[in-house]
Amino acid sequence: MKTIIEPFRIKTTEPLKITTSEERHRALEAAHHNVFLLDAEDCCIDLLTDSGTGAMSSQQWAAMMLGDESYAGSRSWKRFEAAVAEITGMEHILPTHQGRAAESILVGCVVKPGDVIPNNSHFDTTRANIEYGGGVALNFPCSEAFDTQTPAPFKGNMDVEALETCIKENGREKIPFCLITVTNNTGGGQPVSMANVRAVKALLEKYEIPLLIDACRFAENAYFIHEREDGYQNRSLLEIAQEMFSLADGATMSCKKDGLANIGGFLVCRDPEWAERFRNLGILREGFPTYGGLAGRDLEAIAVGLMEALDYDYQVYRHATVEYIVKRLTALGVPMVQPAGGHAVFLDVKRMLPDIEATQYPGIAVVNALYLAGGVRAVELGTVMFGHFDENGIEQPSPLELVRLAFPRRVYTQSHFDYLIEVIEEVWNNKESLSGYKMTYQSKALRHFTCHFEPLGS
Ligand SMILES: Cc1ncc(COP(=O)(O)O)c(C=O)c1O
Repeated sequence: MKTIIEPFRIKTTEPLKITTSEERHRALEAAHHNVFLLDAEDCCIDLLTDSGTGAMSSQQWAAMMLGDESYAGSRSWKRFEAAVAEITGMEHILPTHQGRAAESILVGCVVKPGDVIPNNSHFDTTRANIEYGGGVALNFPCSEAFDTQTPAPFKGNMDVEALETCIKENGREKIPFCLITVTNNTGGGQPVSMANVRAVKALLEKYEIPLLIDACRFAENAYFIHEREDGYQNRSLLEIAQEMFSLADGATMSCKKDGLANIGGFLVCRDPEWAERFRNLGILREGFPTYGGLAGRDLEAIAVGLMEALDYDYQVYRHATVEYIVKRLTALGVPMVQPAGGHAVFLDVKRMLPDIEATQYPGIAVVNALYLAGGVRAVELGTVMFGHFDENGIEQPSPLELVRLAFPRRVYTQSHFDYLIEVIEEVWNNKESLSGYKMTYQSKALRHFTCHFEPLGS
């Protein structure tokens, strides 16, 4: 059959509120034109993030009933530990309440002020944690990553030459570890090839620098490798994931993505000395090392979810959804990051609204237009999220201006996606009427979550 179906049927439903245009205008104004400040029930199709927003399976719900809430050494911990150990092959496993908690413990234990942490592209919480610890977060994406139209298969790769230059310039003693983020969320959800991880590892070994994987979407990345990289077509997604982790010295994970859970994360490593430090800080920040900020039932849901994310049929369906949307939007002429990423569609705002300056936040213009047109909540990945101020206090734009429509796992169906395409088409057809925004309030860190805007020309 040519039609790829959702490999599940629906047992429980949740109502969606259908709002009027007037209601959406009122809601957005009350939210200071920042969709993060909207009430979720006012968002008909909520694509703000794929993080923690997925639907759990009946197996996960069943496993949750087995949750052992003992403070230490619970059966649920054992099942969580076994699943994480099987996938990552790491000896030391520390559960955390979500990915950024793992980042914060890692940085708190091994980053000193002035240290440099390279990555293909740091996610915002990773960068914020490193900078909060006094470190410098540097991105070394491959050159194809900057061209949203190149159909290269592994645009999430790291630029190995640039990484070596960074090591030579800073000295290995200033680099406590290097990260590689799979898939590269900030760079458009693009995958990283096994060959690239291998090359990065080989270089780092020469300088005795540990490699850590930011593994949030490790299963989606494994699927891309299966489909696109020579030699992996007869390997299971689990085997591909195991091979990738075998190249690393540790990993941070948000189980809110490819753990198919609504909360959770972990930090893993091979070095017993690092593990001791992580456990000590973990106890302070997250709790006893066998629950790490999670209930026993959460550990159960994650143990099942991690394996379900590696199910081939699930990944075929997930990627077919993203490809379907990209194909339909491409036919309408809507500029997007090509090829399709793993967990989201990324609209290329620089091409959509070339006349709106980066410091007038064209991404916000698109995000807000999507909300007003049809109650779709998306997120800006551009100057608001990734811009910075130079030493003269002048705002420097992000190299890419993207709007991300991230797809919660197993939540929306084909008709929701057809509706979404119609909403984007309306915004695209009316793009000349959009104008930029002025930021009227911002916090010092992670400003995109809470800042306020006013439309220019209103
Ligand atoms: C690549 C990447 N790293 C880290 C994180 C942080 O994870 P969490 O939201 O669980 O703290 C995210 C979350 O979106 C992410 O996409």
